[in-house]
Amino acid sequence: MIIKDIELKHFRNYDHQELVFDPLINIFVGDNAQGKTNALEAIYLLSSSRSFKTHIIEDMIQFNEQSAVVSGHVISNNRPITMKIALTKKGKKAFINMNEIARTSDYIGYFNAILFLPEDLQLIQGSPRLRRRLLDQEIAKISPIYAYNLAKYQSLLKERNAYLKQLSEQHKQADTYLDVLSEQLASLQVDLINRRQAFVSLLNEFSQSLYQYIAEDEALQITYHCQYKEISEQAILAKYQDNYSRDIMYRTTVDGIHKDDLHITLNQHNATLYASQGQQRSIVLAMKIALLEIVRKEVGEYPILLLDDVLSELDDTRKEKLLNLISNKIQTFMTTTSLDGIDHEVVKKAKKLVISSGHLEGTY
Ligand SMILES: Nc1ncnc2c1ncn2[C@@H]1O[C@H](COP(=O)(O)OP(=O)(O)OP(=O)(O)O)[C@@H](O)[C@H]1O
Ligand SMILES: [Mg+2]
Repeated sequence: MIIKDIELKHFRNYDHQELVFDPLINIFVGDNAQGKTNALEAIYLLSSSRSFKTHIIEDMIQFNEQSAVVSGHVISNNRPITMKIALTKKGKKAFINMNEIARTSDYIGYFNAILFLPEDLQLIQGSPRLRRRLLDQEIAKISPIYAYNLAKYQSLLKERNAYLKQLSEQHKQADTYLDVLSEQLASLQVDLINRRQAFVSLLNEFSQSLYQYIAEDEALQITYHCQYKEISEQAILAKYQDNYSRDIMYRTTVDGIHKDDLHITLNQHNATLYASQGQQRSIVLAMKIALLEIVRKEVGEYPILLLDDVLSELDDTRKEKLLNLISNKIQTFMTTTSLDGIDHEVVKKAKKLVISSGHLEGTY
C-alpha cells in the first residue's frame, strides 16, 4: 500500500494544502508547532478514520471553521482508490471512490498504517490496558472475524456487568440469565484467545529477530498472558460458575480476556522494571516493524509506517539500523526538527517536505 498524495482543507493548522509523496521515504521537516504531527495525523485519519490524538472530531477542524476535509489517492492491492474523510461538528463521513461508507469496519483495511509515537513507550511502562488495546487494534486490522467477535464479547460483558450491578445483596445465587450470558462469553473467548495466541506468537517471532538486529546481544521475548490454563468452552464456563458469588459480590465480571496481558522480557528480565529508555524505545520499534511484517504476511502488502519524533531520540547506531530496516520496502513518513548530522543514504534519498505554519514551504 502506498499513498500518492493528500489534500487537507481546514484540517488543524492547515488552511488548504496538497502534499505529494515519495513512494518510499518522506520526512516532514520544520520547527516546533508548525504542523508536522498534524500532517501525520491526517494520513492516519485517512487510513483508519480515527485520529491518534483525539476522540473529539471538532479538535481536528481548523479554529473558526465549520468543517474539514482530508482526501488522498492510495494504491491498495495494485488498484488506485480515492479515500476521503469529511469532518463536521456533528460527526464524520468516510468515502471510498466517492461512495459513502457507513460502517468503519468496511472502511478500514484498504490502507493500513502502523504508527509510532513518543508516548508508545507506555506500551512497556504503562498498564495492561494499553497492551491489550494494541493487540485488539492490530488483530482487527488483519482479521475482521476477530473485530466482530471482540465487539460481541464487549457488549455481552457490559450486559453481564449491568445485570450483576442490579442484583440485590441477598441474591447470591446464579440464575438462568447469568448462566446464558456466561455461556456465551465462554464460547466467544475460545476463538478470541486462540487468535490472540497465534498473533502474539508471530509478533514474538518477528520482534525477536528485529530486536536482535537493532540491539545486538539482547534477547527479547514477548508472551501472551492469559489467566485461563485450559482454553475450552467447558473449562472457562466452569470457572465462571465457580465464581458466581464473587462476581455478584463485586458486582462485576472479574475473569475474562479483558484481563489478559503481554509479558515482555529482555534477557529474561521484566522489561517494565529493567529496560532503559533506549532499550524500551528499541523494543517498541521492533514490535512496530514486526507489525508491518505481520500485516504483509496476512494481507499480502506492507502497510505504511508513520514515525513521529523518532530520529532525534535514538543513538546513532540504532538510528542507522532502523533506517536500514525500512529502506527500499516500506513507505515511511517521519517528522523531525532537523536533519543535521544524519547522513544515512535513506535520508539523502528521502523526499523532505518543509512545513511552516501549516504550509508546505518547499521540498528537496
Ligand atoms: N484545530 C486547530 N486549528 C488550528 N490550529 C491548530 C488546531 N489544532 C492544533 N493546531 C495548531 O497546530 C500546531 C501544532 O502542530 P503540530 O503538533 O503538528 O506541530 P509539530 O510541527 O509536530 O511540532 P513539534 O515539533 O513541536 O512536535 C499548534 O500551533 C496548534 O496550535
Ligand atoms: Mg510534533
